[in-house]
Amino acid sequence: MKLVDKVATMAKYKIAWMPGDGVGHDVMEAARLVLDRLKLDAEYVPCEIGWEFWCKEGNALPDRTVKALKETTCGLFGAITSKPQSEAKEELAPELKDKGLVYFSPIVGLRQMFNLHTNMRPCKSYPGNPLNYRGNKITNPSGEDVPIDQVVFRENTEGMYGGVEFFPLPEPVYTALCANPKMKKWKDKAGLENIALSTRIMSRQGCTNICKQAFEFAKKTGRKRVTLIEKPNVLRETGGLMMRCFKDVAKNYPDIRADDANIDAICMWMFKNPQDYSVLVAENMFGDIVSDLCAGLVGGLGFAPSANLGDNYAVFEPTHGSAPKYAGQYKVNPIAMLLTAKLMLDWLKETEMATRLESAIARVIAEGKVRTYDMGGKASTLDVAKAIAEYASS
Ligand code: IPM
Ligand code: MG
Repeated sequence: MKLVDKVATMAKYKIAWMPGDGVGHDVMEAARLVLDRLKLDAEYVPCEIGWEFWCKEGNALPDRTVKALKETTCGLFGAITSKPQSEAKEELAPELKDKGLVYFSPIVGLRQMFNLHTNMRPCKSYPGNPLNYRGNKITNPSGEDVPIDQVVFRENTEGMYGGVEFFPLPEPVYTALCANPKMKKWKDKAGLENIALSTRIMSRQGCTNICKQAFEFAKKTGRKRVTLIEKPNVLRETGGLMMRCFKDVAKNYPDIRADDANIDAICMWMFKNPQDYSVLVAENMFGDIVSDLCAGLVGGLGFAPSANLGDNYAVFEPTHGSAPKYAGQYKVNPIAMLLTAKLMLDWLKETEMATRLESAIARVIAEGKVRTYDMGGKASTLDVAKAIAEYASS
């Protein structure tokens, strides 16, 4: 083939296609159906990732996948099965069992390996969704119905997800930690062999960056409030650092209201007044927790998309898990996955296509004719995808 012909047949985007585990396959098929109907000019590169590869090869994120990803524009991801270390070991192929392999979630691995520092998780109540919180009858002080429209910015590479953990506690780690006198009581009480340690390491750069991302997004989209979620009254050093970084960044955005709430308190406030919040920013673990709460307010994980964003690369994934009991049954709601595809289109600057897709999703939800079981309907994953594809392409 001449170079000219080759260029002519090359797609505009190369997208790493990672269904992962369980219903990841069902919802990715739904995404493909819609993207094809939208005529996105993309080549989809199948990439192996997930539980199967942990069991067979002792690595849920094989090196060949990492290599393939590096040659793509971005990645689209279905869902992953994660299990605690003891169960993970049991399911390894017999010849791998005594190799001392340690299971680490491949999606967490991807976020760190590709420095996808920002996890953006929009949660919006689409009118007509029977699963919306309080039937979407949430009113402002003037008695008007108001939608829930929140976007969580979750720091995606640090904190308790950093993977710096010990059990039992090695002596040198104990000795080093004894620089803090509070540490001593643990040895007397339990003995090092009975102590587990998971660290929460946060950097000024990481904290500042996630706050900047949140404020920049608020500015770009005309949102008026950014709320930091932390717990600095107890987690004095990490929480304190995040709080200072947040306040410093906020100074550059005088038109945006910047406030903060403790993680426990915001769970209560969000339950009472979800309409009050707009952009939320948090470190990794608090962001994980609060983003499920936000998802619950707009119908559950079937409606919660997410984008793992780095400087030059991104991986898009629905917030939901692999729901093994529904795998291959085409039963689960594909809307989270399709909203995820919409985030990918935004990132690719295919704005018109992204808008068409979101409008089609909103229309199918509002009409209520084609619904999966969670919404009280009988339609399959692909029925919903087809209905959305129909509106998105007309
Ligand atoms: C999420 C998930 C993951 C996380 C799991 C699957 C490792 O809960 O994306 O929110 O904890 O980040
Ligand atoms: Mg989560």
